[in-house]
Amino acid sequence: MSAIRIDDDVQRGTPIRILVDGAPIACFEGETIATAMLAADRLAFRQDTRGAGRGMFCNMGSCCECMVTLVGSGRRVRACLADARDGMEVSTRG
Ligand code: FES
Repeated sequence: MSAIRIDDDVQRGTPIRILVDGAPIACFEGETIATAMLAADRLAFRQDTRGAGRGMFCNMGSCCECMVTLVGSGRRVRACLADARDGMEVSTRG
């Protein structure tokens, strides 16, 4: 599955970049971490106990399937609710 951004009649924020597991992802101010990851075909947000990737489920903050770790602070956040910020580093490895 591949996600795409709608281009027609959409106003976007300033282009920014985040790092997910060390890889740069281009996105826009105002997007969530989840939006940025999906648009970059990064579908695994965390790993289960067997190391298998887990993807988003609800996209509204209820299921916690999209938990990622903010590198530096170590905070775990729901990617579907957390805004992407320029230079932010995210880990899907817990
Ligand atoms: S996808 Fe369910 S909390 Fe983010």
